[in-house]
Amino acid sequence: MRKPVIAGNWKMYKTPKESLSFLERFLPLIKDHTRDEIVLFPTMSSLGYVLDATQNTNVRAGAQTMHWLNEGPYTGQTSPTMLASIHCTHVLLGHSERRIYAHETDDMVNWKLKAALGHALTPVVCVGETLDKRQSGLTDAVLRWQVACALNGIEPAGSEPLIIAYEPVWAIGTGSTATPAQVQDAHRMIRDEVAARLGPDRANETRILYGGSVKPENASTLMAQPDIDGALVGGASLDAETFAQIVKYTSQP
Ligand code: PGA
Repeated sequence: MRKPVIAGNWKMYKTPKESLSFLERFLPLIKDHTRDEIVLFPTMSSLGYVLDATQNTNVRAGAQTMHWLNEGPYTGQTSPTMLASIHCTHVLLGHSERRIYAHETDDMVNWKLKAALGHALTPVVCVGETLDKRQSGLTDAVLRWQVACALNGIEPAGSEPLIIAYEPVWAIGTGSTATPAQVQDAHRMIRDEVAARLGPDRANETRILYGGSVKPENASTLMAQPDIDGALVGGASLDAETFAQIVKYTSQP
């Protein structure tokens, strides 16, 4: 019912040339793949090149962040209007690295989410607890709070696609993946919170991706969980062959 999304977050890696040579190898490997939506999030300097090179393919591309206003004196920022004008389709919002290093707050994530929906950009809203919060038994509280803040004031009747990525901060780039059962619990709870805010129908349509050390070896087991609707892949998305293997994960019986 929910089409899975396999997304690659390239973070601050790959020049335009490196991005294009990735695509030269990657596109033929996944060219007939229709089961999952495939999205890449290159750096801002590569985004236009990736958008051009993926036109008329089964790969979409998005920005790793954006401002919530359309224009203004904000050095270094890119606006939703600007992204829409280059036919960018997706945008990552509130990634934990943005929350930690760029001091993005829950309010900002909420403003950005409203701006993305208003510009027909599909938002991928990232939420996740730190190790300290998990060990203190606060995972549920943190996730519910982040989801509730992000969705504050969002119209329940809206029909724009909404994607949430559950990325436990302790699993990002560390090699330690959350267990499928931990992820399933978190995703169930996130879906309940979306239902409480936007109603059960919208919650059922919302794709909830898992991110945090996803690799070809663990993709199938994660994807077999009923509430895991895809993956947001960092490190393992940088290599064309490895990312293609993740895209083509085999479904568990
Ligand atoms: P990782 O990163 O796959 O390297 O753990 C995931 C992410 O930060 O989106």
